[in-house]
Amino acid sequence: MEPMTASHADTDARADLMSYLDFHVEAGVDAALDERAHDRFAEAEAAALAPAPRAEPAPPREPLPREPLPREPLPQRDPAPGEDAPLEFRRELPSRDPPPREPPRTYGNAAGAKPGEAADDARARAAQMTTLAELEALLRGFEGCGLRFTAKNLVFADGNPQARVMFVGEAPGADEDRIGKPFMGRSGQLLDRMMAAIGLDRSSAYISNVVPWRPPGNRNPTPQEISICRPFVERQIELADPDILVCLGAPATQTLTGTKDGILKARGRFYPYRLGDGREIRALATLHPAYLLRQPVQKRLAWRDFRMLKAALDGSAAGR
Ligand code: URA
Repeated sequence: MEPMTASHADTDARADLMSYLDFHVEAGVDAALDERAHDRFAEAEAAALAPAPRAEPAPPREPLPREPLPREPLPQRDPAPGEDAPLEFRRELPSRDPPPREPPRTYGNAAGAKPGEAADDARARAAQMTTLAELEALLRGFEGCGLRFTAKNLVFADGNPQARVMFVGEAPGADEDRIGKPFMGRSGQLLDRMMAAIGLDRSSAYISNVVPWRPPGNRNPTPQEISICRPFVERQIELADPDILVCLGAPATQTLTGTKDGILKARGRFYPYRLGDGREIRALATLHPAYLLRQPVQKRLAWRDFRMLKAALDGSAAGR
């Protein structure tokens, strides 16, 4: 047998590193934001409990391990490439990195404001916008949410802002980020088919998301990011002024209706949704198309919800 040489070992280590990278790309992690993984939930909790500690100089970085990384079979990936999964169906990948050494950051945005301040700022600024075009321009210049610095494009809306029905999803994925419009990928195609089944298309519906920038690697938007972006989607709803709002999936449903119920319990119901001027419209909770792509048997539930939507639109047709 041929003896193991240094160049063989290098080749093996390189192959192992490449397969480790492939694993991340397969899992949807396609943007490196830092050299270490961060647990933002733990950071936010630590920040809430204690004043931010003084920064200490970071200890010298350890050299990269010389040992080849262990080969593991790639796990079955749940979402299809470029496809998003709603909050409750995404998995956290275990981190192989040691915990971050730097002091916890006390904010979730690149502009340096605390999340509460950024959300207050967002609300005050959004309230001043009197048209959807103004709101979109405001969002293009808004730097209070860190997601805008990693996204390629702002994903503001698609469809007809005069429509009587407005669909709101969670956050853009890779296709939407590239194109700059919501629901462009596989879940968007399914949403189009679901709308078509009740006679709607993008000329008779308005479509947006709770968060208008793609979270890197299709991770879930954090609660801080949602609270910063929420005033914008709320103002967008007010300005579009639909008769009926449709919340696609748990994050949109929980953010816009205030329910804490999981989507399988929350769906199939109308919730009152109060606009800024005090008027009330109805918000229907239903399943996210990305979930239906993974659980096609649940399409029958979504079909029930869409029939409720059609009946509501038919019933209030005279209103607009
Ligand atoms: N999923 C969403 O929630 N929104 C999109 O725009 C695309 C996929």
